[in-house]
Amino acid sequence: MSIQKTITIGAKTGHPLTVKRFGYGSMRLTGEEMIWGEPKNRPEALQILKTAVREDIKFIDTADFYGDDVTNRLIAEALYPYPDDLVICTKVGADRGADKSWRFYDTPENLRAGIENNLKTLKTEQLPLVHLRIMPGSDTPLEESLGAMFEMQKEGKILHVGLSNVSPDELNKGLTMGNIASVENAFGYAQRTTFEMHGMEIRGLQEVMDRCLADKIVMIPFWSLQSSVLKEDRRISEIADKYKVTAAQINLAWTLHLNDLMLPIPGTSKLNHFKENIQALNIPLTDEDMEFLG
Ligand SMILES: NC(=O)c1ccc[n+]([C@@H]2O[C@H](COP(=O)([O-])OP(=O)(O)OC[C@H]3O[C@@H](n4cnc5c(N)ncnc54)[C@H](OP(=O)(O)O)[C@@H]3O)[C@@H](O)[C@H]2O)c1
Repeated sequence: MSIQKTITIGAKTGHPLTVKRFGYGSMRLTGEEMIWGEPKNRPEALQILKTAVREDIKFIDTADFYGDDVTNRLIAEALYPYPDDLVICTKVGADRGADKSWRFYDTPENLRAGIENNLKTLKTEQLPLVHLRIMPGSDTPLEESLGAMFEMQKEGKILHVGLSNVSPDELNKGLTMGNIASVENAFGYAQRTTFEMHGMEIRGLQEVMDRCLADKIVMIPFWSLQSSVLKEDRRISEIADKYKVTAAQINLAWTLHLNDLMLPIPGTSKLNHFKENIQALNIPLTDEDMEFLG
């Protein structure tokens, strides 16, 4: 079964960005517990980012609240000046307390400050793709927060706007307000219906996926490994044996074969895992494999 190897973000706009259909999630480069602090192995962290670009992995996910600007600073240190076709995807809507707790940061003023901080720490004048990361339990209306994102898009600070941790209702509402280029939600082989974020459940993953498919919105799944690999699924192991690859690679290959709008961003702090993961794009699962995996 042949799959699409590239993907275009903002295909319906005048500013399409085409990248290889495999990204890297930088969150795991932070060093301590709770996504905080400098990397345990700084040379390896920088090496992963450099290897990504060398291997034509040009979609890198980050946030300024990963370790208090840690991943943004590492990305700039490893890759600035950036190749023209590098898409750095960041997110706003949260920040961190002194105790490392996750806090709402999603009023229009907060979002503007978040965008300015991302521009500064990533050393750029325009952010190619920014997700409004919805914090479950926030009382800021979507009209205000997403409205502010579209405002900053008009000002040229953001090229494309996406939504993260979004429910079907929020996505439907967002789509009435403007162009949503992408959705970044938890999704994986063993996680297809709900997920928990900051102690609250987000439901309707399949409905969100259906809407993305209907509207051709790029779908960026996170936790696709974390939610699945540890479960040691028998069917995944069988297919991994068949292709003489790892369970992590089959989890990622399944994601890639599910539909052409999926853009996986597996996270890792290890160069060998990074190199292993990107090979998933070269595993040609058959229709029978996909049916067997279910
Ligand atoms: N929008 C949001 O709210 C949100 C939330 C969470 C994450 N994200 C983004 O999504 C990205 C992916 O999520 P994630 O990093 O939390 O989870 P993930 O990609 O599902 O899994 C990462 C975990 O899997 C391990 N791993 C990676 N490759 C492996 C391999 N080949 N074999 C065995 N273990 C492997 C990593 O450990 P090692 O370091 O030891 O490899 C790490 O513990 C993040 O990096 C971040 O950029 C976004």
